[in-house]
Amino acid sequence: MTSLPEAFRHWMQAEQHAVEHHLSLHLPAAHCAPSFLHQAMRHATLGGGKRIRALLTLAAGELVQAPRARLLTVAGSIELIHAYSLIHDDLPCMDNDILRRGKPTCHVQFGEATALLAGDALQSLAFHWLSEPWEDHCRPRQLTLIHLLSVASGSRGMAGGQALDLEHTATPPSLEELEAMHLKKTGALIRASILMGAECGDGPLPPKELNHLTHFANLVGLLFQIVDDVLDATMDTSTLGKTAGKDDAHHKSTYVTLMGVQSARKRVTELGDEALTTLQSLPWVTTRLEHLTRYMVERHH
Ligand code: IPE
Ligand code: IPE
Ligand code: MG
Ligand code: MG
Ligand code: MG
Repeated sequence: MTSLPEAFRHWMQAEQHAVEHHLSLHLPAAHCAPSFLHQAMRHATLGGGKRIRALLTLAAGELVQAPRARLLTVAGSIELIHAYSLIHDDLPCMDNDILRRGKPTCHVQFGEATALLAGDALQSLAFHWLSEPWEDHCRPRQLTLIHLLSVASGSRGMAGGQALDLEHTATPPSLEELEAMHLKKTGALIRASILMGAECGDGPLPPKELNHLTHFANLVGLLFQIVDDVLDATMDTSTLGKTAGKDDAHHKSTYVTLMGVQSARKRVTELGDEALTTLQSLPWVTTRLEHLTRYMVERHH
């Protein structure tokens, strides 16, 4: 991480605060009825997380000079979907985890039924925020964003990838199948974060730029989950804020179980290099996305 400039770290910190503030302001207040559900939603969404998806949205939006208010709404909506996916991922019927972002998981704190409902409600709230009319009545742009997020989170995206994750726990996949699973369970939402940011401008992205950006987004989406697999096997619980070593304990198929840590790290470097090269095909200054890519490759938690 030493290679990342100080100015980038400051930007990242400031934007993480801005996203936290936006989420805190717009999530239903904890005292509003049904209070227990709203507390659970706030517990799962606020006070932690790297906000990498939101940062990608903000950085991609900068490329097309997208208005700040739009970008924060979109970044916030994606973080809601992400928080919902984590609540459900941690449930006893999925990964059965007790620790998330250094705190008890949602079902440990609030019970399984409330955790399930908090996930459901966060998903709905994401689309509520995305569909709230913009001041300039630019409904076609909003529809594009809603389309991107619904596809990314459904059975052809995140939820589908989670289903494959369960399937592959019983029957180990080939490397190709593992990559396909990673591209869905984690890659789809990362890809949507980038494309949605870039679709927040006043017009649609031209096809050539859309192709290059999609390729970039797939590469970083895949590498993000491989790094997650490596960290699970190599870091400790207090650094991660979630239980370390749980993939092995739960017989999950990951890059590490299939290829070993060294090969998984090598694959991350290759994907990162290809992602950085892909950015050069874009007609914009992409410094922020370059730094985010390097951060995703080098991160320790
Ligand atoms: C964890 O995502 C789950 C995956 C999809 C790998 P993050 O590593 O982005 O989790 P937070 O938001 O920073 O807690
Ligand atoms: C989670 O993958 C992917 C989604 C939540 C969609 P993991 O199960 O590896 O994530 P962690 O390690 O629990 O954060
Ligand atoms: Mg999981
Ligand atoms: Mg998990
Ligand atoms: Mg993991």
